[in-house]
Amino acid sequence: MGQRVAGKKAFVTGAAQGLGAAIAKRLAEEGAKVALADINAAGAEKMAAEINAAHGAGTAFAFALDVTNEQQWIAALEQANAAMGGLSALVNNAGIAGGKGGVEEMELETFRRVMSVNVDSVFLGAKHAIKYLAKNQPGSIVNISSIAGLIASWNTPAYNASKAAVWLLSKNIALYCAKKGLDVRSNSIHPTYIDTPILDPLRSVFGKEEAEAKLARQVPVGRIGKPEDIANAALYLISDESHFVTGAEIKVDGGISAM
Ligand SMILES: NC(=O)c1ccc[n+]([C@@H]2O[C@H](COP(=O)([O-])OP(=O)(O)OC[C@H]3O[C@@H](n4cnc5c(N)ncnc54)[C@H](O)[C@@H]3O)[C@@H](O)[C@H]2O)c1
Repeated sequence: MGQRVAGKKAFVTGAAQGLGAAIAKRLAEEGAKVALADINAAGAEKMAAEINAAHGAGTAFAFALDVTNEQQWIAALEQANAAMGGLSALVNNAGIAGGKGGVEEMELETFRRVMSVNVDSVFLGAKHAIKYLAKNQPGSIVNISSIAGLIASWNTPAYNASKAAVWLLSKNIALYCAKKGLDVRSNSIHPTYIDTPILDPLRSVFGKEEAEAKLARQVPVGRIGKPEDIANAALYLISDESHFVTGAEIKVDGGISAM
């Protein structure tokens, strides 16, 4: 399609499916090289092969990564930097919905697991990627939070806490990079319900149509979002079109947070 991120080299976590895959595809369409990292290594390989088939060999690379594991982060970033000839963007997208239940019912183990996958990941990614981004300025870090990081529900304590942490950690990283004089930006994206496999548990309870209709009724524009809606926001934040945007949050939520 276009060349809005030509020359950019982006590392995207959780890229085997859902939003991560959509973001990697969109970036490749607009001229970037992409490293697809996922705990599902086979899924990341498959998605990278799909992108290479569409845009040419050497566009996409796949890496096995559990985003809670610091040693794996260090290794994957080093390998991606070598494979792509640098690193200019990091998309911290991998995340889990976590268990449902009130604060009295949720097990500590569940709470910690959600915090680890959703928050340790962003900390570790930034901690170990900034040195590469600094060598490929302008750089951009995009963290996928959620509207659930800004608006709470009664039965998602771990998810709410983790996504709120991603929101402010993104601002912290933005200020840190600015303080260090780096042209490396950090922003968060806050989607509402988007059509990805993360909604499958709900679909299996109510059936696809009823589940999606239930969610759509909560959104002012009357529909759930598409992965491309989020991919386009990430594309903007990684491109130099957003060069003066840092420490910001972009809500891609069909108007939910306006209520
Ligand atoms: N889809 C939505 O409705 C929605 C809404 C708001 C925010 N989000 C956020 O967007 C992000 C992506 O969600 P999605 O809908 O694409 O989910 P998804 O479940 O379809 O995909 C998540 C991907 O992350 C990977 N992953 C999970 N744990 C991992 C780990 N420890 N290490 C590495 N990879 C891991 C999975 O293998 C999978 O490929 C998440 O952070 C999610 O919280 C999604």
